[in-house]
Amino acid sequence: MRTSVGRALRHAVLVSLAAAPAAACGGSVTIAGGSGSPSGSSVGGSGTTSGSSSAGASGGSIGGSGASSGYAASGSADSGVSSTGTTPGSGSSSSGSGASGREMDAGAPGQCAVKVNSASSNTVCSTTFDLVGAASACGPAYDAGFTIGLLPNAKCEELCPPRADGGLVGFSTVTYCSAYEDAGGGHVNCSYCLFTGRRPEGLSGDATDGPDAVARFLARAAYLEAASVDAFVRLGRELKTHGAPRSLRAAARRAARDEVRHARVTQRLAERAGARVPAVRLQARGDRSLEAMAVENAVEGCVRETLGAAVAMIQAERAGDRDVRGAMKRIARDETRHAQLSWTVARWLDTKLNAAARVRVRQTRDQAVRELLCELARDPDSVLTARLGIPPAAQARAVIEDLRESLWS
Ligand SMILES: [Fe+2]
Ligand SMILES: [Fe+2]
Repeated sequence: MRTSVGRALRHAVLVSLAAAPAAACGGSVTIAGGSGSPSGSSVGGSGTTSGSSSAGASGGSIGGSGASSGYAASGSADSGVSSTGTTPGSGSSSSGSGASGREMDAGAPGQCAVKVNSASSNTVCSTTFDLVGAASACGPAYDAGFTIGLLPNAKCEELCPPRADGGLVGFSTVTYCSAYEDAGGGHVNCSYCLFTGRRPEGLSGDATDGPDAVARFLARAAYLEAASVDAFVRLGRELKTHGAPRSLRAAARRAARDEVRHARVTQRLAERAGARVPAVRLQARGDRSLEAMAVENAVEGCVRETLGAAVAMIQAERAGDRDVRGAMKRIARDETRHAQLSWTVARWLDTKLNAAARVRVRQTRDQAVRELLCELARDPDSVLTARLGIPPAAQARAVIEDLRESLWS
């Protein structure tokens, strides 16, 4: 890490805002979330700058145009990939695995369809299914520095069955999917998660629900905010177990209190939109090894929560809903501090791990960044961008590319 987390986040957000200006945006943008600013607007010299000059300063690192064209290729698959006549089967449950029964009937080789009973590699957020044919049958490859076949929304909903157990993280419906090829043939990886937040291990819950996309998004956000309370409580407990400095333990406790407040605020927004936010349920877990802690901190903190802080900054600027903008201003400041905590914890853990373990943690972190690129390569529903300020794909990629240079390289 070559720069402070807060500064890196503000730079990445400014670059992205300049890359994707809002129609009503003036000449300058103001970013909330300055580190060390406990109240009020935190904009200081480094936090406020002209969007255009920031973009110019970053030169070619934005990657916006490449991202846009890459996305367009993926988007074009929406019309280019024809429905293959696959028919959903009956909805059998496979509780525990997280995979559920609505799998596609096997079609002719070369068709973009999922083999029956082929669910594998269940994780808390995703399930992988075998494809009947090659991954290329599902659409053109999307080049994000590695090859993935990111599929359009309609195709994901066709291929990826809702999780019959409501989703291990409370989300039953697919959020994105990608097709890929390996020695075993074609596969599709279906993800049921969002890109923000620190998700604790062992998370489970009922499906979130709401009358429209905004309500469902807010319900998921509220659910993840509530879940991250436990993530920080556990982090604080394990830091104590492993003899971490008192300042780190105190910062984890403070972050847990922040998340209680975030959960309350976002639940209020979700319920106002008509959504139902289920209670968070967690499986019992013991304390982990330092390496297991480091892996979770790298993925959930240094990558996902760090990006979450950037997205919160963007929402604080761009949400059309005034209440959401207000809520996200405060949340962005807190999340920036949480991101900083993740990197501080990572540095402390590095001093405790041997070289081989540090390499494994780093590899896992790199993989988490690649997964983020998959998640963010598709535009969200336009109403989420307009009302909640959720960044479009090109803007999200601009943030990631900038963070790759400043933090994740
Ligand atoms: Fe939060
Ligand atoms: Fe957080």
